[in-house]
Amino acid sequence: MKMKLGLIYGGKSAEHQVSLQTALAVINALDFNKFEIHPIYISDKGEWIRGGALQEPIKEVSVLKLEQGSLFSPVTLNSDLFPTTVEAEKLDVIFPLLHGPNGEDGTVQGLLELLNIPYVGNGVLASAAGMDKVVMKNLFAQAGLAQASYVSFIKSDFESNQEQAYKEVEEQLGYPCFVKPANLGSSVGISKCKDRAELEAAFKEAFEYDRKVIIEEGIVGREIEIAVIGNDNPQCSVVGEIAPKKEFYDYKAKYEDGDTDLIIPTQLSHDEYETIKDMAIKAFKAIDGSGLVRADFFLTEDGKALINEVNTMPGFTPYSMFPLLWKESGINYPSLIEKLVDLALERYEQKQQIKYTF
Ligand SMILES: Nc1ncnc2c1ncn2[C@@H]1O[C@H](COP(=O)(O)OP(=O)(O)O)[C@@H](O)[C@H]1O
Ligand SMILES: [Mg+2]
Repeated sequence: MKMKLGLIYGGKSAEHQVSLQTALAVINALDFNKFEIHPIYISDKGEWIRGGALQEPIKEVSVLKLEQGSLFSPVTLNSDLFPTTVEAEKLDVIFPLLHGPNGEDGTVQGLLELLNIPYVGNGVLASAAGMDKVVMKNLFAQAGLAQASYVSFIKSDFESNQEQAYKEVEEQLGYPCFVKPANLGSSVGISKCKDRAELEAAFKEAFEYDRKVIIEEGIVGREIEIAVIGNDNPQCSVVGEIAPKKEFYDYKAKYEDGDTDLIIPTQLSHDEYETIKDMAIKAFKAIDGSGLVRADFFLTEDGKALINEVNTMPGFTPYSMFPLLWKESGINYPSLIEKLVDLALERYEQKQQIKYTF
């Protein structure tokens, strides 16, 4: 019996196109003798469309933009979208290939929990905690992980006393500092500020994307990334480095210019590698991770590792950091996907053992 694997991709998100590329790569990497692949497309307007099972690899990304016709909105949970009564249409496992809000933040994960379908990657709590930079950093602080100093404001508090907010940033963090919307990714809405004028503009911009912002002290250092997979016993990959040729790793550098070098593996001392591995596992556990995370660090000139963030659904094209780190660690792209599917089933089985009655 082939395993019925649902792929959710697309999404009403800045990363719609990236997600399509990821879906294409994942489909074509899978063994069609082992898997029956069921595409579930979310259009850029947020409509859910389920396609029929794929029998063979596909050549073009446009094929993935399923015909409008059977539209389901995620708010009108419709049993036609994820039939659980028709045995033939039940999916064995779903891999959500989505990044950012409404995909990586626990919302889709919550939907799949309610439908009781196994899914790849982090659960509701880890996904939500990983998406909110303030909650994430609070959890890291509690786990004793070194990180940049930060403060945060919600919009209404900020607006009731802006001068106080600027002062707090200047006294506690100084310049340069980074202002970020709490709940986005892809560097959207993030600014580096060198003075008061830039800080004021940065607050204004960040609040356009979120009702909560975080401000961090600017760190000078190398940007080191490590990949983690597993459930209760997470394992780490080799380490990679991002060498941005710009002021920082912004949206353009990530997706448009391609003018960022990924160095895989990168050179670290034995102690630095051990520290980063240890911190990545602690960070994974701090958010109660499962399946996978990519943990991102700054390594300062005097050799101190500071955690920047974890991504609960990191970039997953074959050219993205996460799969490349595993490739360098001896796990190729198709095997990585299969490992993640196995981890999803393992986590699901564990949960099935839990008693819900008393
Ligand atoms: N505190 C900081 N000090 C120095 N550079 C930073 C800091 N925070 C972010 N950056 C730069 O901005 C980029 C994006 O920030 P990040 O917090 O990783 O947001 P995202 O979740 O959008 O990836 C980082 O990769 C780094 O280049
Ligand atoms: Mg980042």
